[in-house]
Amino acid sequence: MKKLISTFVFALTGIVSAFSAEVINVVTDNTQLVMRVKDDGRLYQTYLGERLSPVVELSALDMPRTNVTSSVFRGNEVYPVIGTEDFYDAPFEIRHADGNCSSVLKYVNHRQQPINGGTETVVTLRDEVYPVTVVLHYLAYERENVISQYAEISHQEKGRVYIVRYGSSMLYFEADEYYLTGFSADWAKEMVMSNQQLQFGKKIIDSRLGSRAADFAQPFFELGIGGQVSENHGTVLMGTIAWTGNFRFTFEVDHDNELRVISGINPDASTYLLPRGEVFRTPEFIFTLSQNGVGQGSRNFQRWALNHSLYKADEERMTLLNNWENTHFDFDEPKLAALFGEAKNLGVDLFLLDDGWFGNKYPRSNDRAGLGDWQVTREKLPNGVPYMVKTANESGVEFGIWIEPEMVNPKSELAEKHPDWILRQPNRETYYFRHQLVLDLSNPQVQDHVFGVVDNLMTENPRLKFMKWDCNSPITNIYSHYLKENQGNLYVDYVRGLYKVLDRVQQKYPDLYIMMCSGGGARCDFKALRYFTEFWCSDNTDPVERLFIQWGFSQFMPAKAMCSHVTNWNRRASVKFRVDVCFPYKLGFDIDLKSLSPQDLEYCQMAIREYNRLKPLIYAPDLYRLVSPYDGNHCVMERVSDDRAHALVYAYDIHPRFSEQILPTRLQGLDADAQYEVREILLQPGRKSSLSYDGKTFSGDYLMKIGLKVLSGSDMSSRILELKKM
Ligand code: GLA
Repeated sequence: MKKLISTFVFALTGIVSAFSAEVINVVTDNTQLVMRVKDDGRLYQTYLGERLSPVVELSALDMPRTNVTSSVFRGNEVYPVIGTEDFYDAPFEIRHADGNCSSVLKYVNHRQQPINGGTETVVTLRDEVYPVTVVLHYLAYERENVISQYAEISHQEKGRVYIVRYGSSMLYFEADEYYLTGFSADWAKEMVMSNQQLQFGKKIIDSRLGSRAADFAQPFFELGIGGQVSENHGTVLMGTIAWTGNFRFTFEVDHDNELRVISGINPDASTYLLPRGEVFRTPEFIFTLSQNGVGQGSRNFQRWALNHSLYKADEERMTLLNNWENTHFDFDEPKLAALFGEAKNLGVDLFLLDDGWFGNKYPRSNDRAGLGDWQVTREKLPNGVPYMVKTANESGVEFGIWIEPEMVNPKSELAEKHPDWILRQPNRETYYFRHQLVLDLSNPQVQDHVFGVVDNLMTENPRLKFMKWDCNSPITNIYSHYLKENQGNLYVDYVRGLYKVLDRVQQKYPDLYIMMCSGGGARCDFKALRYFTEFWCSDNTDPVERLFIQWGFSQFMPAKAMCSHVTNWNRRASVKFRVDVCFPYKLGFDIDLKSLSPQDLEYCQMAIREYNRLKPLIYAPDLYRLVSPYDGNHCVMERVSDDRAHALVYAYDIHPRFSEQILPTRLQGLDADAQYEVREILLQPGRKSSLSYDGKTFSGDYLMKIGLKVLSGSDMSSRILELKKM
């Protein structure tokens, strides 16, 4: 068994002088990627790992691998192609106009320029035989230790040129063991974490769902390099793809136990016709390489998202009352008006009207009809949306509304009027998902229609503050009437069409907040979150299930973006437990408030006041996951402010065993030399904390080395503690 656990990767062709070749460094505070041009004019990865000290003997990075047993050339080329002397999987394949499908990409030049919070490295590669150019971009965010990478592909050939594979990134690792954590999903079962060792051969995590793309596989992974990783230990590559469509991560361990990781759009059924002169920009593959386990990686991602990625990251988020779980499709004006009053009384900022407000010829009274007809149902809401907005505002809350503009029910006026706008096979049986079909967003007319759904609502109701943009169906019948013989472009152009619409929405309505939803959390990527202010993690709002789902999303996502609503799912759990599970994220309510006892309502009102007081801390990037629900019957997390002066501890007992021994939980991320006052907050009305240490002061050192007994050992119970530096 080899004892090599470094992430160094040595190129086989170590004969080139370090001094004659071009060396490109992409660095963050803790991570370094070194690439260099070898004698053959091609670009190779020579190092990816912990940042090296400034004086590096670069030639050392070119040493031949000691453990290579075969004579097969394997150079670790940065953007390898299909059809050369490298025989493993590659991110790039192009079919030239003459049918030749080979290419060799040679280094042309590179430049580096500052970007907000980091440095961008741009490397141009070109084929010397065919006029094909690939420009690689690396955005290195120094403080967050996040690197984002994408490629721009273009050609100047006459005739039809197809790109067959067009990955965003290729990375190489050499270690004796690799462990992969993936995130599988289904409706109401998002972000299920599973871990496996990678051994010889390929492991692929991908999606082919098109629109509701992350329904079965979510676009994230954690890769332990050199061994298993835990929250605080081990080298881990955490990666995601910023793409709201089909994606693919390929992990290939070769015959010498070297690992290649290819990330990008899933090229299946997507051989893409690339017109001459057009630049095909791949989505960004975003990664962090933590030497201190996944906890540090999550903090890197959350900080990066808040500093550089999430839409309106520096703005507030609104607490809300949604009516979906309460009324479903069954509501009218008086019912809603009463709910506005209840929302105000609860103390939330906004009322969100869900599905069921539209359609006249085919009213949307269930999910079988009306989708696509975005006119208010006159029978239900005779005074229209303007009256709803006005009444909500008069009650003292903002108004938001649900839309699902990419979709259509066959039973709708839209489907009758524009059958050619629907993705559907012309010559085969049609398959439905939730009785609906997907509109063809590759078609500019459809893009106008989808934009029009938002535009019409906003024109009529300029005071609309919020939308919930849903997407309940994958593409079930892949055929576009618009694209005709270029069907290979559909999956990609669908997503690009969506982005074009969202660009227009963002430009015209910069004050609008939009929640991304996809039958729960089947859309949850960082590109979409450049347009959406938040996303719905799951339709599953059972608090126990949510602890797991939110644990999964917290690996990558900032709290501010993760919508978490208190509902009546799992009435066996107390209202306090249900609220406390939602409290660490973007808090909302989707519950019949009349079903609550006066004490429970009072608890919710107090929780919202506390939430408003603590928002900056709740949304801070430094999350420490202390006890995993995957490990047993408990879950504990801690959120710490940037200056380490303020922290929250969230502690949940799920189903503890009888007379289980409860040990203190050691905190993390505090200032060891500081003193902290510890107080239990979110106490039920009239109750006092039962904690002996409530209100007492401890040193950070004590809290991190000895800890506090925060768990109670009672079924489905919770405690939230606030720590303040004295
Ligand atoms: C999806 C969403 C729900 C709700 C319904 C409405 O399932 O995830 O929250 O909006 O659609 O039909």
